[in-house]
Amino acid sequence: MRVTVTQIREMKQKGEKVVMLTAYDYSTAKIVDEAGIPLILVGDSLGMVMLGYESTIPVTMEEMLHHTKAVVRGTTQAMIVGDMPFMTYHLSVEQALKNAARFIQEAGAQAIKLEGGVTVAEKVRRIVECGIPVMGHIGLTPQSRLQLGGFKVQGKSPATAVRLLEDARALEEAGAFSIVLETVPAPLAKLITEKIDVPTIGIGAGIGCDGQVQVINDILGSFADFVPKHAKQYAKLTDIIKNAVTQYNDEVKAGSFPTDKQSFTMDESILAELKAK
Ligand code: KIV
Repeated sequence: MRVTVTQIREMKQKGEKVVMLTAYDYSTAKIVDEAGIPLILVGDSLGMVMLGYESTIPVTMEEMLHHTKAVVRGTTQAMIVGDMPFMTYHLSVEQALKNAARFIQEAGAQAIKLEGGVTVAEKVRRIVECGIPVMGHIGLTPQSRLQLGGFKVQGKSPATAVRLLEDARALEEAGAFSIVLETVPAPLAKLITEKIDVPTIGIGAGIGCDGQVQVINDILGSFADFVPKHAKQYAKLTDIIKNAVTQYNDEVKAGSFPTDKQSFTMDESILAELKAK
């Protein structure tokens, strides 16, 4: 039985931290699920860490569905949240409903996430009314990075801090079951967390949130292009992978791989017959 939205909501009441991690493929999702992470986000960050785009802007619905299906196949316990890509929910409520439904019907996700607060609240309400759990995402919303002027801390001025609180309240009111707060000053994230009943899940938003989310490649040290300030590397996979690949390369070239251990035998008589032909 997978984690439910009710359980996630109850975690806030009980003071239990909500842990979320991204995953984009079957094998990684399986490990994350077995490690007991309750929420797996198939983030549109896959555009950068999996597909090599410069930002999340080019990511398409088809790419998101492809990866979400793989993550769903690799998991049995976690709730899988599909991230709606740029311009797949902005045009109309109908467009938002149609694409949210694709994550559930086609990919097998249990919830969707979309970016924005007051401006997307009506869409959130309609998606939730259709029975699809919605996770909000405010603060630094990477799909709006051109408008925001880059990857900057959000909510530092009185006006933007008030707007963030209004965004959080609008999402709560619309029925979101949790809200990601990205790159927000820690004291503001704590205040928003105290003022709303739905769990906040922080990334670069300090310890005062109800939970935390990270991009898996950042905590594993497997994406070397850019390491954000909010990420802690619990491993350095780039070094481990490079080392293993170099050894493989050296051994193949030296003729020391494969050995008998990695090879298969056959009946000597068949071989002798073949040689005689
Ligand atoms: O796409 C993503 O991975 C995200 C997280 C950073 C919250 O939106």
